[in-house]
Amino acid sequence: MRSAGSTQTQLSINGSRLMQRIATLAEIGAIDGGGCNRLALTDADRDGRNLVREWMIELGLQIAVDAVGNIIGTWQVGSGAAVMTGSHIDTVRTGGKYDGNYGVLAGLEVIQTLQDAGVTPSRPLAVGIFTDEEGARFAPDMLGSLVYAGGMSTEAAHDVIGIDGARLGDELERIGYLGSVPCPGIAPHAFVELHIEQGPLLEVNGVRIGAVTGVQGISWQEVTIHGQSNHAGTTPMHLRRDPAYAAAALTVFVRELSARYGGHQVCTVGKIDLHPNLTNVVPSRAVLTLDVRNTDEAILQRAEGEIADYCDVLAQREQVSITRRSLARFEPVVFDERVVAMVERLAIARGNSVQRMPSGAGHDAQMIARMCPTAMIFVPSHKGLSHNVAEHTDAVDLIAGADVLLDTMRELSETTFA
Ligand code: GLV
Ligand code: MN
Ligand code: MN
Repeated sequence: MRSAGSTQTQLSINGSRLMQRIATLAEIGAIDGGGCNRLALTDADRDGRNLVREWMIELGLQIAVDAVGNIIGTWQVGSGAAVMTGSHIDTVRTGGKYDGNYGVLAGLEVIQTLQDAGVTPSRPLAVGIFTDEEGARFAPDMLGSLVYAGGMSTEAAHDVIGIDGARLGDELERIGYLGSVPCPGIAPHAFVELHIEQGPLLEVNGVRIGAVTGVQGISWQEVTIHGQSNHAGTTPMHLRRDPAYAAAALTVFVRELSARYGGHQVCTVGKIDLHPNLTNVVPSRAVLTLDVRNTDEAILQRAEGEIADYCDVLAQREQVSITRRSLARFEPVVFDERVVAMVERLAIARGNSVQRMPSGAGHDAQMIARMCPTAMIFVPSHKGLSHNVAEHTDAVDLIAGADVLLDTMRELSETTFA
């Protein structure tokens, strides 16, 4: 790796402009408590896209919308493949202002800072807004960046059916983001994503910047349990075939599995639907989701195996049928040591405290890592809260992170990877 970056004059991003853009974007889909609801490919997501695309156009970026609606804004300077940053602006239904949005808007801020200073990098700089990172409406998560990186076909992505029965391809067309640029996309020279940590570690440790070493593996499953619907008052307990009970037992099982495994093992039941969902009816059906993650692929596989075995035992014992469907499965990703070390060094050079850490959340960077040297920068999340309207990061930390992104993108644009 050769780099000419260390001789550059230091610049700083315009913090109030960044904070203003974050606040303006957060007005779209705003919900009580200061959060956002912009589920992927809804009208609110479209309005958010339109706003950020306008900002990209104001910066003179060349806009490409691809076949899964990823928006790539490129500052066409220098030559060669672009140094790319980016993230997502879709949110979960009860999301905060910063998850994803911060990384996209900090990317615009980096470009505007360089433009204002009359500094032209040796390579193009690009900002990506990746479609459906959250996976909250259309599974899998990180869908747009997965397709961009060639990990899923455009056709398969278009055919994904959302939690509301909508087809992804139809929704892209409906909101005007079924673009013509083919996927997979062009491999960047390097990729670096700036994101809030979404967990407690930086705050607890009193550290401002995380140099992210990788992302843990993710396994999402939908579990459907069929039993026998019956009268809640007349059906003796020992004769019930109760999917609600089986769903609860499975929820307890994965919680206890996490406690047994310890370490990085996490398991979540985030969604349970009962049918017919009435007070005095033993349900006929339960559909629930499992989100199981670990930094170690072998342990993640062991957890999946135990869950499968438990479902068989439970089905037998409770006289219900249990079927499982994979919604997302991504192995742990290790980021490029050269980019991780660069983030760490540049953060320290700005006087920040820094720690290396894996990411507990999924990110678009884990998909783009298949294409080019990649890493991420984290800043603290207040009380570790995210996927919550109360998600908060202090402006001083958001601005510090954006400055590290600025320095990293500048240095990457002057770096040749062997
Ligand atoms: C994506 O945001 C995830 O980690 O669930
Ligand atoms: Mn995110
Ligand atoms: Mn998220």
